[in-house]
Amino acid sequence: MVLFYKTTDTFQQGSKTLAGHYYTSESIFAEEVERIFCDRWFCVGRAEELPEPGDYVIRHVGRESLILVRDRHGEVKAFYNVCRHRGVRLCSESRGHVSGTIRCPYHAWGYALTGELVSAPFMNEVEGFDADDYALHSVAIATWEGFLLVNLSEHPEPFEEAFAPLIDRFSQWKIPTLRRGDRIEYSLQTNWKILAHNYSECYHCPTVHPALVKMSPAGTSANDLYKGAFVGGPMAIAPTYTSLSTSGKRTLPVVGEVSGDNLQRAYYYFIFPNLLLSLQPDFVMAHRLEPQAPNQTNVICEWLFAPEAVAQPDFDPSDIVQFWDGVNREDWQLCESMQLGVSSRSYVPGPYSAQESLLPEIDRAVLRALGHLTE
Ligand code: FES
Ligand code: FE
Repeated sequence: MVLFYKTTDTFQQGSKTLAGHYYTSESIFAEEVERIFCDRWFCVGRAEELPEPGDYVIRHVGRESLILVRDRHGEVKAFYNVCRHRGVRLCSESRGHVSGTIRCPYHAWGYALTGELVSAPFMNEVEGFDADDYALHSVAIATWEGFLLVNLSEHPEPFEEAFAPLIDRFSQWKIPTLRRGDRIEYSLQTNWKILAHNYSECYHCPTVHPALVKMSPAGTSANDLYKGAFVGGPMAIAPTYTSLSTSGKRTLPVVGEVSGDNLQRAYYYFIFPNLLLSLQPDFVMAHRLEPQAPNQTNVICEWLFAPEAVAQPDFDPSDIVQFWDGVNREDWQLCESMQLGVSSRSYVPGPYSAQESLLPEIDRAVLRALGHLTE
């Protein structure tokens, strides 16, 4: 059974915000890339972005470029986008389709969708050359709820262990079956942790999101995950509203098998380190954070809906998308402002309120991953 705790009940008194250099330092950012993004499972998109064998997308993390490609058996594979000959990037477009072979644009070595080197012109002239020694370097990949996650570690923690608290937790929403109805990318001048923090508290909601709190009162926020790398919980949708949208009325079908109390709830989770997931009665909203620099993050926001709704010729998600794009922009303005503030020489850690009980936990997850916290 899932238990809800009032936000204030999970607060550790005396918690303070991180020191400024955690938001501004190039060396801390480089450590985060190495020890968090290159050593753990993180989200790189949705499996539905690759409907057909040969479809690929490129994702970047730190200085790495990764190819995610669907193979002939329907499985998505992940490889470093690095030719095994002299290292040229194999795919230069951010997405595309290859028919059976990934071919290097330099000397035309060709790789199967499963990574094996299948052609290498004139290399038969080289004594001892064995194509089997030159498959693409692969990256561990897992699919969870229709999301693709990769792990660049040479010895990745088994996905089922790392994500144990989340396996089957959200099955009511049938997220793997949902289809993207819209997507907006934002390029923001702020640190990725500021975005994760902002998402994980509603202390700011009454001042920043007046339209949202009318429909979903800030005081109803609760936590059902509040320890470790995954944190969040539900908020109530007020009885007179059926959707968190501009109209407040549900016009699209309920997703999956959502029923009972969950028809009047919206859930918000931060899934460490880079997925912000919101489960609502009529849609699922996913923000994927792509850290670019200490003060720069790209955010890819996608709205997922019941597949039968998206398939309709007159499908129109704008009531929901415009509303949440507005909420996003209300947040982004403050997140960018905070980045400027924490960069000031005058900034020192401030006290968290009890309404922000998840934020010290996020900080601990970051510090633990960086090896800056021993407990
Ligand atoms: Fe790719 Fe030469 S660098 S074939
Ligand atoms: Fe907000």
